[in-house]
Amino acid sequence: MDLNNKVALVTGGGTGIGKAVSLELARRGALVAVNYSRSEVDANETVNTIRNQGGQALALQADVSKDQEVRNMVDSIIQYFGTVDLLVNNASITKHIALGDLEKATEEVWDELYDVNVKGMFFCARAVAPYMNLSGSGAIVNLGSIAGNTGLGSSLPYAVSKAAVHGLTKSLAHALAPTIRVNCVAPGAVATRWWDGQEEQMHKLAPNLLLQRISSTEDIAQFVCATLEQEAITGQIITVDSGQTL
Ligand SMILES: NC(=O)c1ccc[n+]([C@@H]2O[C@H](COP(=O)([O-])OP(=O)(O)OC[C@H]3O[C@@H](n4cnc5c(N)ncnc54)[C@H](OP(=O)(O)O)[C@@H]3O)[C@@H](O)[C@H]2O)c1
Repeated sequence: MDLNNKVALVTGGGTGIGKAVSLELARRGALVAVNYSRSEVDANETVNTIRNQGGQALALQADVSKDQEVRNMVDSIIQYFGTVDLLVNNASITKHIALGDLEKATEEVWDELYDVNVKGMFFCARAVAPYMNLSGSGAIVNLGSIAGNTGLGSSLPYAVSKAAVHGLTKSLAHALAPTIRVNCVAPGAVATRWWDGQEEQMHKLAPNLLLQRISSTEDIAQFVCATLEQEAITGQIITVDSGQTL
């Protein structure tokens, strides 16, 4: 699929990997709806960067864990751009809890992480699917994580939520075929604010990575865009981790 002139929604599109995806989509000619929940300044900056480079973009506030807010956001995209062809389900949160500290993985933590990381991705896919079906094609990429494969990560509920994202990808690929392709990009460590306060731990990883480098947000963005473009795959969880889990 040629991304030129396609309309894309990137959740959490103003920071980190989401920002890099928004900029790369625009570079490939897509019109980009940059979603945020709290980071309004970052979302506006991303939109301004795209506009200054001659592209089209729009910042939209919505908490992806709230179905009605998601539906309203998609309505706004339809009003502004006329349709939506691409979805990058990037928005997620975590809590840093030692894996063995089961008591700290409270019901509130489970609910909060599942609401955003899993149900939020489902709500967004459900809201955009009718427009993709109407136009006859669409592509979705969910951001998973190697945590979803290994079971290791910033907390147990986070790792399990990412395993659920991998499962959601397969189920949605079945549910939305043949018109809409749904895939998942599962990064290893990527240098973003995700590691705020844990930078040392992140850099300690690098010598142990086969490729001896931490992935950049641009690495992941390139791959997300390539996955959106690729017509022959659906339901795949593709690891991009510099050899971290090999
Ligand atoms: N960095 C890594 O090492 C790594 C590794 C594997 C996977 N990932 C995945 O990569 C994705 C992006 O993470 P990142 O590293 O780029 O960190 P990040 O900058 O913190 O990105 C997370 C984004 O999610 C948005 N978000 C959170 N809750 C939201 C909500 N309820 N509604 C709408 N947006 C919400 C945030 O926007 P607001 O601030 O506006 O809420 C933010 O833009 C996540 O799915 C993460 O799980 C990251």
